[in-house]
Amino acid sequence: MLIVAEHSTDSLSAVVIRSSSARGPGPEAHPIGIPYFSFQKAAMTPNDSILRGYLSDNAAGASPQILDAVVAASAGPAAPYGNDALTAQMRAKMAAAFECDLEVFAVGTGSAANGIGLASLTRPWGSILAHADSHIQNDEAGAPEFFTDGSKIVLLGGEHSKIDPDELRVAVKAGRGDVHSVQASVLSITQVTETGSVYTIDELRVLTDIAREAGLRIHMDGARFANALVALDVSPAEMTWKLGVDMLSFGATKNGALTADAIVCFDPTLATELSFRHKRGGQLTSKMRFQAAQLDAYLTDDLWLDNARQANAMAARLRAGIADVAGVTVTSKPGSNILFAVFSDELTEALHDRGFGFYANRWEPGVVRIVVSFAHQAADIDAFVAAIRELA
Ligand SMILES: Cc1ncc(COP(=O)(O)O)c(C=O)c1O
Repeated sequence: MLIVAEHSTDSLSAVVIRSSSARGPGPEAHPIGIPYFSFQKAAMTPNDSILRGYLSDNAAGASPQILDAVVAASAGPAAPYGNDALTAQMRAKMAAAFECDLEVFAVGTGSAANGIGLASLTRPWGSILAHADSHIQNDEAGAPEFFTDGSKIVLLGGEHSKIDPDELRVAVKAGRGDVHSVQASVLSITQVTETGSVYTIDELRVLTDIAREAGLRIHMDGARFANALVALDVSPAEMTWKLGVDMLSFGATKNGALTADAIVCFDPTLATELSFRHKRGGQLTSKMRFQAAQLDAYLTDDLWLDNARQANAMAARLRAGIADVAGVTVTSKPGSNILFAVFSDELTEALHDRGFGFYANRWEPGVVRIVVSFAHQAADIDAFVAAIRELA
């Protein structure tokens, strides 16, 4: 029997139980049901509890400014497939934010941004060097391999999900020129990392220098790009193309948008290839103006930075509030909006029973992940802290 959590249209509530034989042998070999047990109860609580949810930053709604922009974009006709004025305006805003000429391709998911972006950076016999904790390795159901026609992801280690430069130095040379080996072609860096740590600019530079000297392309998975920017207080340019980043998966959905992320490409020679890959990947939406409206509003009046500051600040408030609780250990680095901790099973269960949604036991026993979003307010965090302090 396989238990699969499904994200239903109205909430995270539907949990279906079905026979694994219905899907063939794959799931039996890799029982994906286990990680979902722990939040099952929390996910089944009513919507108002989900509002207090910390499963991920995509459990939050969207910013009112973005919703207003989508409504406004609906007035009257517009040219389809991105040939509209709003898409042009969004492109200009993105170029201004990054202080350079660039290409932007709106996509519906971060996985699409990663897969399509990576595909234009490597040949099928190339490899993508990435941390073992990376989303492209663990959470995209093989989409990068699919989009790249089978490129291999080569895994690197490093503390707090940050790539160890010494491992990278070895990996960029491994098997070079050997027809029996994949050829190291892309370095993929996640900023903010999957466990909430943030590379400093110096740490990024060490990695990008190694990659560039070895002739590799550089991809950044920026699902939480804005959270990293405000954590470091640097400009978008400083964290990307000035370090040699060729391609950025620009996240917006987790930080206030509805359904819009983007591939941001800093190398104009890749634009034509990306255009075709974007279409073939099913991401060239006919009503592109609605994704453009989201990204445009996201970049207007610093909404993206304000939202990220709110999420990071609320995560810091939570961290401070539970730092001295006996039996609770926060294990992740401060800085972003993701917090990892060790809770007892009793505490996790009691918090889930109260309607606080967060993942538990998905990594190692006792390890919980709490993701704070732009939508969380101080009162939400204080209520969560009070519950943890009471129940621990
Ligand atoms: C680091 C990272 N990259 C990419 C993604 C994109 O995911 P999705 O395809 O669900 O939008 C996520 C979402 O959880 C993420 O955490």
